[in-house]
Amino acid sequence: MAPKFGELFLKILLILSIIKSSQGREFSRKNYPYLKMASSFSLSPPRGYDYIIVGGGTAGCPLAATLSQKYSVLLLERGGSPYGNVNVSYLQNFHISLADTSPQSPSQAFISTDGVINARARVLGGGTCINAGFYTRASSSFVKEAGWNIELVNESYPWIERQIVHWPKLAPWQVALKDGLLEAGVSPFNGYTYDHLYGTKVGGTIFNKNGFRHTAADLLASGSPKNLNVLLHATVLRILFNVRGSKPRAVGVLFKDENGKQHRAILNGRRQSEVILSSGALGSPQLLLLSGIGPKQDLDKLGIPVILNNWHVGKGMSDNPMNSIFIPTKKPVEQSLIQSVGITKMGSFIEASSGFGQSSDSIHCHHGIMSAEIGQLSTTPPKLRTIEAARKYSKTKNDLPREAFQGGFILEKIDGPLSRGHLNLVDTNVDNNPNVTFNYFNHPYDLQRCVYGIRTIERIVHTKQFAKLTEDDSYSIEMLLNMSVKANVNLIPKHTNDTASLEQFCRDTVITIWHYHGGCHIGQVVDKEYKVLGVDRLRVVDGSTYDSSPGTNPQATVMMMGRYMGVKILRKRLGKRAGV
Ligand SMILES: Cc1cc2nc3c(=O)[nH]c(=O)nc-3n(C[C@H](O)[C@H](O)[C@H](O)COP(=O)(O)OP(=O)(O)OC[C@H]3O[C@@H](n4cnc5c(N)ncnc54)[C@H](O)[C@@H]3O)c2cc1C
Ligand SMILES: *[C@@H]1O[C@H](CO)[C@@H](O)[C@H](O)[C@H]1NC(C)=O
Ligand SMILES: *[C@@H]1O[C@H](CO)[C@@H](O)[C@H](O)[C@H]1NC(C)=O
Ligand SMILES: *[C@@H]1O[C@H](CO)[C@@H](O)[C@H](O)[C@H]1NC(C)=O
Ligand SMILES: *[C@@H]1O[C@H](CO)[C@@H](O)[C@H](O)[C@H]1NC(C)=O
Ligand SMILES: *[C@@H]1O[C@H](CO)[C@@H](O)[C@H](O)[C@H]1NC(C)=O
Repeated sequence: MAPKFGELFLKILLILSIIKSSQGREFSRKNYPYLKMASSFSLSPPRGYDYIIVGGGTAGCPLAATLSQKYSVLLLERGGSPYGNVNVSYLQNFHISLADTSPQSPSQAFISTDGVINARARVLGGGTCINAGFYTRASSSFVKEAGWNIELVNESYPWIERQIVHWPKLAPWQVALKDGLLEAGVSPFNGYTYDHLYGTKVGGTIFNKNGFRHTAADLLASGSPKNLNVLLHATVLRILFNVRGSKPRAVGVLFKDENGKQHRAILNGRRQSEVILSSGALGSPQLLLLSGIGPKQDLDKLGIPVILNNWHVGKGMSDNPMNSIFIPTKKPVEQSLIQSVGITKMGSFIEASSGFGQSSDSIHCHHGIMSAEIGQLSTTPPKLRTIEAARKYSKTKNDLPREAFQGGFILEKIDGPLSRGHLNLVDTNVDNNPNVTFNYFNHPYDLQRCVYGIRTIERIVHTKQFAKLTEDDSYSIEMLLNMSVKANVNLIPKHTNDTASLEQFCRDTVITIWHYHGGCHIGQVVDKEYKVLGVDRLRVVDGSTYDSSPGTNPQATVMMMGRYMGVKILRKRLGKRAGV
């Protein structure tokens, strides 16, 4: 009787906590008067908008909120609302959104031609609704190279942080990583900081202490409700141009609503009005191509009328490769995503994630950000991975011994991969993913940094800190690692002193940390102000403009960039009167 009663008590507590949080600010719809369904669209204001922003994601939300403080803004997002969606809102459901391949899912899976299963957001708030939440700023050299105004950068990050960023309650697995990193020589310890500094640190998170997620969509609350119009399930099909002048000029967009009905949203006649793409590193180049801006040869093949022949659109795509090792432990470890990070001078970043292995049902038994059911099939070489293989894994994972879930992962990702790829359209349906190639590890320096990262993980695994978690009288760390290999949750490098075998390990086990970027590079597709070259009244503001992914993880800088560009545009138009 006793355990049953205990279980019941826990269930009641859980229900009470759900009721409590659903009464919170987060769930009440009356706080979001600016959110409308796309089908409710009418031409208001009748003379069109000052700004039409395509993509209510990580950059689009802070940008729309900021511009709406002075001008009319229409924000068009193809996905739905994050509010009231438990798959989005709770840390423990991280792997559930990503495994959900239905059309309603906030995550849209894609597989690059490299064979690595990946994901892009499809929800208001974008990547911040499905990501691992880790919040950390770009390095000062990144800011310098971007040519950004450092004072405005230093005002824009805190604008985000005040609204949605928290300090984490450090999970045991993250404490172990932090201490292991320091013992392995990735020092000094820089404490809790958003700054990008060599050594080991704890970063911020968009999850609060109860594991409730805050997102870029929350930033819309600081916009001006009278100027801000947000349409959900509004999928932009293409940008509309006036081609009569000396240069093509963006005049609006064509979008479809949740019933498939098409609408035109137009800019007002003001000279400074603009269409701004914040559709993400896949979405922005895809929309430029669908709108006739891209390599003429490719556009001709699909019968897309050419507005501007630019070979560079969709070129220079990169994704930071991630490789990880599963460390089995004596006792189960609490679930954690990313909270601690080691920043090495070699340009490999070390992070950790732990899943949860005690639950009796398979959906709650998982490996955190390394869960095979979300596509992180690291024990299968990339070319053999398929969505079906991931599904099959999730069906059969209940047959795995519980010990296979007992432990955590240490991962490494390399900074600014030099390997480059490209993106092209498969067809003219905007709902379909474009064809993307990242060419992981094509550049030898990327491979060298992966090898360095794996050797660093090996050093951490052999620290006293990890010995406490793993070894006991009956098992050594080597025996435990061998068991995890037999259970097919791990592939471990054969000899860490043998560079060739480590290089092979890097190639065979490569997965993604979803930091893909590029496709609309500065100097090739946009200028330093992010204005699209060769046309008027069109910008791209998001991660597609980056040459490398900022910081150890990019979301802080992508959100900052949205705020930064919003303020910059307001100041340019209004000077001191901008008041921001
Ligand atoms: C699973 C996962 C985990 C991650 N973990 C972390 C982490 O812990 N820390 C971190 O810093 N970063 C993390 N990232 C990376 C980070 O979240 C992304 O780099 C960032 O969110 C990308 O921002 P974006 O503005 O470029 O694109 P997005 O945020 O994806 O925004 C693009 C938006 O445009 C919309 N859109 C696209 N096309 C159209 C169209 N035609 N019409 C209308 N709307 C359209 C999309 O639906 C989307 O909402 C993670 C990413 C993922 C996917
Ligand atoms: C959450 O994900 C599960 C599993 O894919 C799905 O069945 C459920 O409908 C989702 N819930 C919401 C609110 O989307
Ligand atoms: C901006 O912020 C960084 C990081 O917090 C700090 O190191 C730098 O001195 C600041 N620069 C200026 C000009 O305020
Ligand atoms: C996708 O890209 C790959 C690599 O560039 C190419 O070989 C393939 O033909 C492309 N597929 C389509 C449908 O465009
Ligand atoms: C682990 O497995 C390898 C290969 O199967 C074997 O050579 C090695 O002795 C094993 N190590 C331990 C500690 O069991
Ligand atoms: C690597 O180390 C193992 C055991 O520590 C040794 O047997 C092997 O010869 C070494 N390999 C190389 C390439 O040095």
